Amino acid sequence: MPVILGIESSCDETSASVCADGTILSNIIANQKIHEAYGGVVPELASRVHQQNIIPAVQQALLNAKVSKNDIDAVAFTRGPGLLGSLLVGVSFAKAFALANDIPLIDINHMQGHVLAHFIGEDKPQFPFLCLTVSGGHTQIVLVKDYFDMQVIGQTQDDAAGEALDKTSKILGLPYPGGPIIDKYARQGNPNAFTFPEPQIPGYDFSFSGLKTAILYFIRDQEKLNPNFKEEHMADICASVERRVVTILLNKLKRAALDLEIKTVSLAGGVSANTDLRLGLQQLADEQGWKAFIPKFEYCTDNAAMIAIAGYYKYLKGEFVGQQVAPLARMPF
Ligand code: KG4
Ligand code: ZN
Repeated sequence: MPVILGIESSCDETSASVCADGTILSNIIANQKIHEAYGGVVPELASRVHQQNIIPAVQQALLNAKVSKNDIDAVAFTRGPGLLGSLLVGVSFAKAFALANDIPLIDINHMQGHVLAHFIGEDKPQFPFLCLTVSGGHTQIVLVKDYFDMQVIGQTQDDAAGEALDKTSKILGLPYPGGPIIDKYARQGNPNAFTFPEPQIPGYDFSFSGLKTAILYFIRDQEKLNPNFKEEHMADICASVERRVVTILLNKLKRAALDLEIKTVSLAGGVSANTDLRLGLQQLADEQGWKAFIPKFEYCTDNAAMIAIAGYYKYLKGEFVGQQVAPLARMPF
């Protein structure tokens, strides 16, 4: 019954989690509020705050799981992709912890971690399935054939879906990160109030930069007629933008699932916390007779539980790395 300590520090969340025999016992997430003032993550500041938060987060994760340092059998950490300075903090901590406790190290790809969050809890998807992995840095359709046998069949050619929402919120004068705020406004708005274009991109790839420009020009033109346009129509703008982002994502996922004859679809990554996307996926699955899997909210955004569960499955395979391992800002599957 392996007990795994998971460490996540790829962006602006410092997180630690304990997983015992595939069950998550704790998941501590320290958010970094400092970036709100800058309208985006400042890498240098993120590394410094990780450095302050990492040991308290681990101590709390051990406490909540009611285990001691000596009970940990292996430490799993996010090796990449992510901000190098942020990754360095988690990787260095994991190495020191493994050395001090004489236990193995397990490296995890952050994007695979997001996909493997589906294996937390009782209701697990069966292979093969398609996972729409949508975060602030990535937008991918992943064909998941086994725990560590995944293939990216489509991805964004420019901005990520979360980035598009974050940039839209900046245009609208809303705080960072914009995704959750747009989601909140959208609940009171009409998603059909305004129409934004759906890009025509071949295959299962995505593009969001045109959408961002369309929104920018739309707001600029409307404000020439009514300087208070944004404020007066905030809910409708957010609902319409959100609906377009969601339809772009789900139309591609639907096409991929139909082409590949895959009947299990799922969401992962921070944007899968989005209300319209969650409802839309479930509706699509119901229409098509497919099964849909969406992780619990706390396992959608960056968290160490997904790293700990991925670590558990790698532990079962006996796949460990040595102390010379280095973080990777870019890390293919
Ligand atoms: O996976 P994640 O926590 O970090 C990255 O690896 O990027 O994803 C963060 C992204 C941000 O762009 C944020 O705006 C978005 O997820 N997000 C949301 C919601 N909650 C977080 N987007 C839409 N609706 C939400 N409720
Ligand atoms: Zn992420």
